[in-house]
Order: sequence, then C-alpha cells, then structure tokens
Amino acid sequence: MGPVVRASVVIVAVIAVATDTSADTSAPAQQARPPPIPKSGPLAQPRSTRQVGFPLDQTLAAIPPDNPQTPEKIALGQKLFFDGRLSVDGTVACATCHDPQRAFTDGRPTSVGVLGRTGQRNSPTVLNALYNKTQFWDGRAKTLEDQAALPIVNSVEMGQPDLEAAVRSLAAYPEYQQAFQNTFGRPPNSKDLIAAIASYERTLTSFASPFDRFLAGDDKAIGEPAKRGWVLFNDRARCNKCHALPDEMPDLTNFKDDDFHNIGVLIVRHHVVPLAHKAEKLVNSGNAVEVDQAAIGSDMSALGRFLVTKTESDIASFKTPGLRNVMVTGPYFHDGSHETLWDVLDHYNKGAGPQDPWLDPDIQPLGLQESELDDLVAFMASLTSDVYQAQGMQELARQRALARTNRPYRDTRRAFRLKTAAKPLR
Ligand code: HEC
Ligand code: HEC
Repeated sequence: MGPVVRASVVIVAVIAVATDTSADTSAPAQQARPPPIPKSGPLAQPRSTRQVGFPLDQTLAAIPPDNPQTPEKIALGQKLFFDGRLSVDGTVACATCHDPQRAFTDGRPTSVGVLGRTGQRNSPTVLNALYNKTQFWDGRAKTLEDQAALPIVNSVEMGQPDLEAAVRSLAAYPEYQQAFQNTFGRPPNSKDLIAAIASYERTLTSFASPFDRFLAGDDKAIGEPAKRGWVLFNDRARCNKCHALPDEMPDLTNFKDDDFHNIGVLIVRHHVVPLAHKAEKLVNSGNAVEVDQAAIGSDMSALGRFLVTKTESDIASFKTPGLRNVMVTGPYFHDGSHETLWDVLDHYNKGAGPQDPWLDPDIQPLGLQESELDDLVAFMASLTSDVYQAQGMQELARQRALARTNRPYRDTRRAFRLKTAAKPLR
C-alpha cells in the first residue's frame, strides 16, 4: 500500500502545481494551499468547570466510561488537534478549520483542506460539541471518537489514505512514541489517537456569557434589547420550537433540540431524485468513509440527513445547531450561505419558498419588524462567552454595518404575507 499511496500523492501534487501556475491570474495563488495552522494559545486550553451556567451533571454524563478523562490524555489530544503532521502533507490540522481564536470555526463559508481543496459544508464549532447527541450537520457520527477518525481520511480535509498511515507518520517522532506510551502504556495506534482527541474536545466547554449571568439572577447582565429578543425567541419568532426543548424541559444549555429539520436554506438546485438514488446505494454499502466523502465533497451534501436515514422526509434536513457563541461563528447555516445574523433572521422572517416539499411545518412567515430583528440579534449576541467578548463586539459592529446596506435575503412582502402565523404558540 505504501508506495501506491505515495505515487498518488505525487500525482495530486503535480496537478495542484499545474493549476497554480496556470494562466488564470484571477485565482489567488494561495488557492492551492490551506491557511496556516493556528497556534495553540490560551483559548485552546481546557476550560474551567467554574464558568457561570456550567452544567456539571450533563458534562459528567457526556464522558463515556470507556474513555475516561486523564490529564495526560487531554494534553496529548490537544497536541494532536494542532498538529499538521496528522494530515497527508503536513499542512492541515484539526485547528485549521477549528481555530480557537474564532471560537473553533474557520470563518469561511465552507472549509479548505489539503492542497486548498474546498468542501461543501461550513465548519461548526467544537465548543460544547461534547453535549451533541450526534456529530456533523447530518448526524452521521454518533460520538466524538467516531467523528475524529473521519476528517483525517477525507480527501478534501486531511487527506490520509487511512488511519494507519496517520499513525505511522506520528509514530516516526520520539515525542509521540513517548506521549502515547505515557498515556496508554503502548505505542501509537488509531484507537488511542482518536480517544485522545475526543478527550481534549470534551474539555472545550463554553458558558459564562452575559445571558448565563442574567439567568443566574443578575438582571443587569444583559440590556433591554436582548431581553426583548429573548421574549420574541420564545414567542412570536418561534425560535424555541427547535432551539430549545419544550416548556416542560427547556434546554438552555445549548439552545438546540438534537433533531434535524429542513428549514429551506437550500434552493433546490439539484436533481434530487437521481441524487437520492445514488445516495441510497452509497448508504446501503455501509462504508462510513465513503459517506463522509460524499457529505463533504459531492453534490450529495445537499441531501443532508437523508444521507444517513435514506428517508425521503429527511431530504435537505440538517441538525439544529446550538446558538452559544453564534455571534463569532459565522458565516451561518450548513453551507455558510448567510453572512450575518440579520441574513439568518431575514430567512426565518419570510418563511421559505413554496417549492420545497420537505420543508418543516414550523417554518412560516413571521412578520417581524426590523427593530424586532435587532432585538433577536442582541439576544443572540448575549450568548457570547466572556473569553470571546471582544471579538463578539467587533463582529456585531461589522454585521450591523453590513446589514444596513446589504440584505440579500430580505423579503418584507413575504414576511408579512400571513399575519396570523405570527400568533404566540401557546
Ligand atoms: C478542512 C477542514 C476541517 C478539518 C481539517 C477538520 N474539520 Fe472538523 N469539521 C469541518 C466541517 C466542514 C465540519 C462539518 C461537516 C459536516 O457536517 O458534514 C466539521 C465537523 C466537525 C465536528 C462536528 C461538530 C458538530 O457540531 O456536529 C467536530 C466535533 C469536528 N469537526 C472535529 C474535528 C477534529 C477533531 C478534527 C481533526 C481530527 C477536524 N474536525 C478536522 C471541517 C474540518
Ligand atoms: C424548524 C426548526 C427551527 C426553527 C423554528 C428555528 N431554527 Fe434556527 N436552525 C434550525 C436548523 C435545522 C438549522 C440549520 C439549518 C441548515 O444549516 O440548513 C438552524 C440554524 C440556525 C442558525 C445558524 C447557526 C449556525 O451555526 O450556522 C441560527 C443563528 C439560527 N438557526 C437561529 C434561529 C432563530 C433566531 C430562530 C427564530 C427566528 C430560529 N433559528 C428558528 C432549526 C430551526
């Protein structure tokens, strides 16, 4: 396998060089290169359990018995998370697309991996991912361990031919020989590799936001606009239908329902039926690596949850993302198509197009006024953890300025089409 793999890497590299030097000067040269790997700084450290709003019971419940947390394992996982040597050509680390300075996202519509290859999905934050019932926008991985194995071997992300190749390249370094030996009492292997990464990720909790202090009883922690936004969120804007559990059991930990919905982000631009047939065959093959490849690197990406369940009603359904730190994790939605939170709200306000047969019934015109959209943004901004407060203020100002002149998704006529839809739910 070794020589064959090396040969194909060389061919890929040659093609990449050829495109780089082509006559097309409009394409910037760094197109064929991923961005530099971010450094592991203070924001990459395991987070304190003493944050306001920290859910101790849920956190303990998220640690699987067969992968207990140890300081050595967490430190090894952190080192691996920032190490480009995990990728086929040394240029891409997990942190390339999950940068601690950007709340563990990459700030791009869709991510860029080895050789500058671009995928079709937006990089979600890894903060609080330990609480997810499933991983990825379509939930195709159950655990953080299962998840971590996939980007390493995805050809548009880290590009390794298989996990063993990643292990071999790390095992060549005495520092890793020693770290694995100290942590697991044996030489590097793929199971321990992903266990260490998952352990590190389980330390990336993010609470301690103004909204947490408000919930804890500090009435001055958030302003009047954010308070009005919180009321709208649970009432006329209907956000709580999906970004929280029902009234009896509201989940204010992460503002999500661990479920999947088609909210109409996608313009149905693909020939869905042949695409779905193709996807069905793929899912039947049971090959998780091939499905991952299709989800990130092919048109089948648009099928969303269907790629896991093969159920027609799941076409273009995606996982409800949590909303903590959302101010600093844009651009938004599974394809990064919406640049500002005002764009996101314009989308919800108008309801979605009539052509989408799989649209969630909870997506309806909301008839919200511009000042109400501002209040909802203020509420979402109050979910920014203290460590990202400075970035959050800056980004809020940037988005507000942009939203004043640029509103590609605003459709006021549609937003006010059905005033009755804006009645409270209860
Ligand atoms: C080239 C960019 C890139 C690299 C490298 C990368 N990721 Fe990701 N990551 C993504 C994208 C894009 C998604 C969403 C893909 C999807 O949902 O289909 C994602 C999803 C995730 C999720 C799921 C989060 C959620 O809310 O569902 C976790 C956890 C994660 N990545 C951790 C990692 C780890 C650990 C590594 C390194 C082993 C890594 N990523 C490498 C881009 C990347
Ligand atoms: C029917 C369920 C549902 C409702 C109602 C709903 N959401 Fe969402 N929300 C989702 C899903 C599913 C996604 C991901 C969709 C995608 O990417 O295709 C999402 C994505 C988002 C995002 C993007 C987050 C990110 O990381 O990209 C924001 C912000 C958001 N919702 C806020 C709101 C607000 C504010 C409201 C109320 C006005 C609301 N949502 C109502 C289900 C819902």
